[in-house]
Amino acid sequence: MDGNGRWAAQRGWPRIKGHKAGVQAAQDILEAASDLGIEHLTLYAFSTENWKRPGLEVTMIMALLRMYLRMFLPKLRSKGIRFHHLGAAEGLPPGVRQDLAGLEAQTAGHPGMVFHLAVNYGSRLELVQAARRCVEDGLAPLEVTEEALARRLWTAGVPDVDLMIRTSGELRISNFLLWQAAYAEFYLTECLWPDFRGPQLREAVEAYAQRERRFGGI
Ligand code: FPP
Repeated sequence: MDGNGRWAAQRGWPRIKGHKAGVQAAQDILEAASDLGIEHLTLYAFSTENWKRPGLEVTMIMALLRMYLRMFLPKLRSKGIRFHHLGAAEGLPPGVRQDLAGLEAQTAGHPGMVFHLAVNYGSRLELVQAARRCVEDGLAPLEVTEEALARRLWTAGVPDVDLMIRTSGELRISNFLLWQAAYAEFYLTECLWPDFRGPQLREAVEAYAQRERRFGGI
C-alpha cells in the first residue's frame, strides 16, 4: 500500500487522508481481485518496521484499521471472501488483535478468495519463528527441510507468490514474503496506492500473463 503519504502530500493534505484513500483502494482491489478469480490476495498494510513512524501516525493507522475492518465485512460476505491476518498478533494493541481474530472467525467458512492482510508483518521475524518452532518440535537437523520450515510459517498451506506488485515507484522488497516470493514475478509501477484500482490491477495481471516462468529451468 505504498504511496498513501505522497498521494496526500501532493494535495496538500495530512498523511492520514492518504491512508483513508488507501483503504478505499484496498476495498476496490478486494472486489476486483475476487472478480478476476484470484485465489489469494495479500496486502502489506503495516510492517514490523512501521512502528518506527511517529506515534500519532501509528495510532491513527491502528484506529483506521479497526474502523475499516468492520466496514469490510459486508463485502467479504457478499463475495464469499475469507479473511486471514498475516503477521505477529503479539505486539499489536489488544483491540486490533481482537478485531483481526474476530474477522477471521466471522469469515472462516467462506469458500472464495482468501484475503491476507499483513499487519505487524516482517518476513525475517516469520522465518525466525518458524526456525524456533522446528527446534521446539524436536526436529533433527535432517528433518529441517524446506517443507518442514514452510509448514511453520504464518503462510502455512498458502501457495507461493505468483505476482508481487509494488506501487509508488519503490524498488525494494522491504522484508515482505522473502521465502514465499522466491520465484514471484515482479510488477513495479509509479502509480501511488490510492490510485491503484481495478483497471490497474487488471493491467498488472495482463502483464503477468505475458511472462514466461521457468522456475530456474530453461
Ligand atoms: C504505506 O504508505 C501505508 C502504510 C504504512 C499504512 C497503510 C495501512 C492502513 C491505511 C491501515 C488500514 C488498512 C486496511 C486495508 C484496512 P506510506 O505512508 O509509506 O506512503 P509514502 O511512502 O507515500 O509516505
